[in-house]
Amino acid sequence: MRLKIIGSAAGGGFPQWNCNYRLSRGARSGGANLRQRTQSSLAASANGMDWVLFNASPDIRQQIAATPELQPDASGPMRSTPIRAVVLTNADVDHIAGLLSLREREPFAIYASARILDVLASNSVFNVLDPSIVKRRTLVLDEPTRIGDADGKPTGLVVEAFAVPGKVALFLEDPDLAAQGFGTEKGDTIGLRISSPDTRQAAYYVPGCAAVDPGLRRRLSNADCLLFDGTLFTDDEMITAGVGTKTGARMGHMHMSGPSGSMDALANLGIKRRIYIHINNTNPVLDEASAERAGVEEAGWEVAHDGMEVRL
Ligand code: MLT
Ligand code: MN
Repeated sequence: MRLKIIGSAAGGGFPQWNCNYRLSRGARSGGANLRQRTQSSLAASANGMDWVLFNASPDIRQQIAATPELQPDASGPMRSTPIRAVVLTNADVDHIAGLLSLREREPFAIYASARILDVLASNSVFNVLDPSIVKRRTLVLDEPTRIGDADGKPTGLVVEAFAVPGKVALFLEDPDLAAQGFGTEKGDTIGLRISSPDTRQAAYYVPGCAAVDPGLRRRLSNADCLLFDGTLFTDDEMITAGVGTKTGARMGHMHMSGPSGSMDALANLGIKRRIYIHINNTNPVLDEASAERAGVEEAGWEVAHDGMEVRL
């Protein structure tokens, strides 16, 4: 099984179009220790031919252009794609907007929780993906699902979706329900176990997560590979950077550092490879020469970059 991180940044990308913080400025001017990154997406394949996208980012066109595996086979029909399916982990803009770039009446399948599929169904612009051509299929939580193409032909990948602590998409927040998580319900944010019957190993993909609870710790114990929410280094990072007013907790993202951070929460679980993804443009670990970057690496974590590949 091959996993390619085609977009390692959080929403906005790195640099973000309107961001004047030192990290975006450095990346924009080609700073030596600051790699540019596109928005959050993963591609996976069990056989190297049939590919499944996990989240469809606004940068999908650029990501396909940078990834030969995702391009039409030169000897194939005039219109074709090796992308057989797209699996969604929430309905945030950085994970669904790329679907709109996959129009052109090309068959594939979309898999997501019922809650996430409801968001697509209630926003009519997604009808550019005609449901008779682009099939919507519900991921039942805590059950393995064989990912197939539009006709149901198996790709060789199996996912198991599970709810994680998180938040409803930003554009669906109900201010009247602020005390109840802005209307968040189970299934708004999911994690995925990704496997293939041909390998005994599995990867866990969790690009958004507000907290590591005991159930999640149990589930991730001894995992072969974990791709985990690396949005922020500290909870108040966007505030101290002067770019916004929200904490990570308010956005549904736990931070990396300190006693309430993901480094501590996911230490000593026997996870063989731990990789931070969905990294926000304020996160100091983006600077490869930073003390924070050295700290996460010291703790056994890798920081994803676009094009990074994991083989299991
Ligand atoms: C997030 O991860 O918090 C979202 O991508 C925010 C957004 O939709 O801009
Ligand atoms: Mn996001």
